Amino acid sequence: KISYYNGQFKNDDEITVDYNDRAFYFGDGVYEVVRVYNNEFFTLDEHMDRLVRSASEIGIEGLDRARMVEIVTELNEKNNIDDGSVYIQVSRGIGKRNHAYLANKKPVVLAYMNEISRPTAQMEEGISVITADDYRWLKCHVKSLNLLANVMEKERAIRAGAHETILNREGIVTEGSSTNVFIVKDGVLRTHPANNMILNGITRLEVLKVARDRKIPYEEKAFTVGDLMNAEEVFITSTTQEVTPVTEVDGEVVGDGSKGRITHAIQEGFDEEIH
Ligand code: PDD
Repeated sequence: KISYYNGQFKNDDEITVDYNDRAFYFGDGVYEVVRVYNNEFFTLDEHMDRLVRSASEIGIEGLDRARMVEIVTELNEKNNIDDGSVYIQVSRGIGKRNHAYLANKKPVVLAYMNEISRPTAQMEEGISVITADDYRWLKCHVKSLNLLANVMEKERAIRAGAHETILNREGIVTEGSSTNVFIVKDGVLRTHPANNMILNGITRLEVLKVARDRKIPYEEKAFTVGDLMNAEEVFITSTTQEVTPVTEVDGEVVGDGSKGRITHAIQEGFDEEIH
């Protein structure tokens, strides 16, 4: 495959990353993962807008959005991937390790593509999740490269034989380690409001759009771990997980243990969006 790093397109095996890239020392940067369906980007504009916003939130200004679109478009042409994703990372720059920002450093872009397929089995059968304390920082709306808490909490799920860890702050469910979380309670869809406690997922926004289109009532309103445990339906969303039902939380069965009616309707609507 052809990938891109710091101004150059190269074969994967020819790419070497500068060890003074601040992404490496500090996780000092931001990123996006964009889905490719049938050789076309899905919601590229929304992802690019969020990338520029995330960068700006951490003081990386003046990103060339148009150039980044060109880079991923060129990558897609060169790699000709049907079903996959593109990863785009922007670091603050390259320079000797120093906490202080270095003057006059240019942001460094890394981009590459992956072949992936839709998680069809889990979208039907559902997954199990565990819950854990959300001890991340208070700027979770920034899609930061710093994912230490997220990877540690994902690993905790894997070790428990589950697929995802749903995080909570003092009992309030925020999001998953790499996904947003929805519940259905009294027939109403609910998810945490888009503030600094969560990443406002592009898939989350698509789900809300489908809910509006299909007249499924919803609220962007926080809920508790108790609400999660007692929900009629639970699902998680992300670019790669799409709309995945949750059938077990901390070993307790959700609803009747199978994909719920509203989850199914949301999946149908989402399918229409990507086709
Ligand atoms: N993760 N919340 C967190 C913490 C995430 O890392 C992600 C995405 C989401 C869902 O966002 P979206 O619907 O825009 O993909 C929510 C990506 C896919 C990842 O890190 O691989």
